[in-house]
Amino acid sequence: MKKEELLKMKQDHVPKGVSQALPAVIAEAKGAMVRDVEGKEFIDFSGGIGVLNVGHSPDEVVKAIRDQAGKYLHSCFMVQIYEPYIALAKEMNELVSRKTPMKTMFVNSGAEAVENGVKIARYYTKKPGIICFENAFHGRTAMTMSLTSKVKYYKFGYGPFMPEVYRIPYAYCYRCSYGLKYPSCNIYCADFIQEKFFDLYAAAESIGAIVVEPVQGEGGFIVPPKEYLGKLQKICRDNGIVLVIDEVQTGFARTGKMFAYEYSIDEPDILVTAKSLAAGLPLGGITGKAEIMDSVEAGGIGGTFSGNPVSCAAGLAVMKMLKEKKLTVRAQEIGTKVMARFRSFQEKYSFIGDVRGLGAMNGMEIVADRKNPKPNPDLTKAIVKRCYEKGLILLTAGGFSNVIRHLVPLVITDEQLDKGLRILEEVMAEKVE
Ligand SMILES: Cc1ncc(COP(=O)(O)O)c(C=O)c1O
Repeated sequence: MKKEELLKMKQDHVPKGVSQALPAVIAEAKGAMVRDVEGKEFIDFSGGIGVLNVGHSPDEVVKAIRDQAGKYLHSCFMVQIYEPYIALAKEMNELVSRKTPMKTMFVNSGAEAVENGVKIARYYTKKPGIICFENAFHGRTAMTMSLTSKVKYYKFGYGPFMPEVYRIPYAYCYRCSYGLKYPSCNIYCADFIQEKFFDLYAAAESIGAIVVEPVQGEGGFIVPPKEYLGKLQKICRDNGIVLVIDEVQTGFARTGKMFAYEYSIDEPDILVTAKSLAAGLPLGGITGKAEIMDSVEAGGIGGTFSGNPVSCAAGLAVMKMLKEKKLTVRAQEIGTKVMARFRSFQEKYSFIGDVRGLGAMNGMEIVADRKNPKPNPDLTKAIVKRCYEKGLILLTAGGFSNVIRHLVPLVITDEQLDKGLRILEEVMAEKVE
């Protein structure tokens, strides 16, 4: 079917709330390249929003999916158990455990993983309160929407939201909510919890979890100082709070380590994952300290489709690829190259206010002017649109929709990466003319 016909058919049959930033219609894809229904090729810097760390349709994963699909598609893990689920849980536990035994359960999405992380933390601590952050994104279900920060169009009109959810500033140093500067601030935004929050907002005795992204994704690729997570972990340990780390977007080699928390702390209490876990098949994971995970009574967690065998088989193939192709190392190489280019763009173009990133998770914040860092969402949108016309798929992010984010498949070739960066630079040069 032709592109225009499909776009019209979509308009007629799919609600407009399920929207797309670009009029892109995929026909086939491999690695970091996408072909649309008109045969036009695109370099994909979006990776299906961070799902395709191992690239589009890798042969190894497709084979694992085919093999599993030929055996059985479903049994429901609560009815008959199966090997791919258990083997993937073991892999996850081995990846995360440093000294504490871990256990893993699977669900269908990132939001569902966060929901379960919160559910388990509450059950374990018997405390209902949850601390979350400005610019956080955790999903679109009732609880995860409540934890999410951006109002329009993620929350506006969908309330009321969950009680006992408290939002505080994140370590967003470029736009510090306290007007402080790192490092002289000594990361006050974390100390604030102990120094003020427990007296003025909610007692530590009523807080069950802190839910945090180690690098904020949807919120604008905000990289906190390395010590930040450690400070949060200490507050959690001192006060009997579970630290729930949301690595739905940062996980599986994206940031140059298997998980971004590894830059700062030894082990999470609970880690939630999804996106790149199964290369595009729906799968989320909750990995946590065995004592916490096993606090839940039999029957308290699970779901009909949760940990589908085909998704788990894909997940096992992803794990193998991540290791064999040394994708953490590749993410660091990509990140070094991209950050150098982004910084050179920043020197040239005064509408780039901030450049930041960890590994191959990189962003540029687009502003009116560096001396007047008012967010510039219109220019951000225009850059992304023009890049698409020239064959590069890019995404925006940020509470003010003014961040260009870079989430390439980690299997991208140097040639493809250079070409994509060249297109981006050409477009930015056009914008200043
Ligand atoms: C950090 C983070 N958590 C949770 C989610 C929700 O994941 P899903 O869209 O699979 O529900 C996302 C999605 O972008 C995310 O980036």
